[in-house]
Amino acid sequence: ASSFPMGETAQERGLSHVPECYKIPRSERPSLDPEIANVPVVNLAGLNDPTERSATIKDIKNACCGNGFFQIINHGIAQSVLDGALSTAFGFFNLPAEEKVKLMSNDVHKPVRYGTSLKDGVDKIQFWRVFLKHYAHPLKDWVEQWPSNPPDYREKMGEFCVQVRKLAIELMGAITESLGIGPTYLRDKMEDGMQVMAVNCYPPCPQPDLALGLPPHSDYSCFTIVLHSSSGLEIFDCEDHKWRLVPELQGALQVHVSDHVEVLSNGMYKSLVHRVTLNRQSTRISIASLHSLGMDEKMETAKELVDEHHPKGYKESSFRDFLEFLSNNDLAEGSFIKTLKI
Ligand code: SIN
Ligand code: FE2
Repeated sequence: ASSFPMGETAQERGLSHVPECYKIPRSERPSLDPEIANVPVVNLAGLNDPTERSATIKDIKNACCGNGFFQIINHGIAQSVLDGALSTAFGFFNLPAEEKVKLMSNDVHKPVRYGTSLKDGVDKIQFWRVFLKHYAHPLKDWVEQWPSNPPDYREKMGEFCVQVRKLAIELMGAITESLGIGPTYLRDKMEDGMQVMAVNCYPPCPQPDLALGLPPHSDYSCFTIVLHSSSGLEIFDCEDHKWRLVPELQGALQVHVSDHVEVLSNGMYKSLVHRVTLNRQSTRISIASLHSLGMDEKMETAKELVDEHHPKGYKESSFRDFLEFLSNNDLAEGSFIKTLKI
């Protein structure tokens, strides 16, 4: 259990050593000098250009058939919107602890909650992260429960959420098209789907080789679109079983293929395994937008992708099923998707 008073984490106290409860087992510790990942960059402008669309869909397919990670450029979200979301997120985490703990909760079913570890006080190993999670769609249903401080939080984060969701709907069309099932396959269900924001803050860590910001895991969503202030994300290469650091690409967004697209694709696309590493110098912020179908809408494997050579490999599940799983289990590497395999 956490040995720190609510809201006053080791990170926030600026310790010179990593306390025992944050130390991860020796064999799982990150390198201070990781290899840099060679990640696909997809130019999304091609999706709206009839002469480029099929080449762009092919780029997405190649990226999804690899590690399930790519960076997107020309995604249509203005730099001022990205900067606004990052700066108001910094502003939130800079607030005094009393202000933030009002939102503190371990209940994974809460639509807005602040926390200091994966499941604060429950995990044996704590992670070097504080977070704010909140639902974002439909915006008007949730925005009033979001933090009222900083005063521009709702406006700046709301603008980013709306734009990233538009992008997510486009991207889902491109992904289903790349699977050969057409661009409208999940359109209506995505329109009614969930958008959950995970706004993460990773403070400087005095011994970044001993702790992690987040342990290896995959996301439950269809896919996750991430904006970050600096590098720190490592992806697991399924070919050579190595962790590699994602390089910074100014203005780009990161896309993780997640569990529900693995299910949809009958395993043609695999959910990305990733973790977050730390540094001594600076606080890193990431804003992850997790897109899935509606709370009770089950994601099923596309029938078109099942045949005698490719038997159905996954059970159906909904976002609510994931929450149920999360409230009873640790989010270790690929663990939710493991429960879905037939
Ligand atoms: C996550 O999706 O696990 C966090 C991503 C990040 O901090 O880059
Ligand atoms: Fe994640």
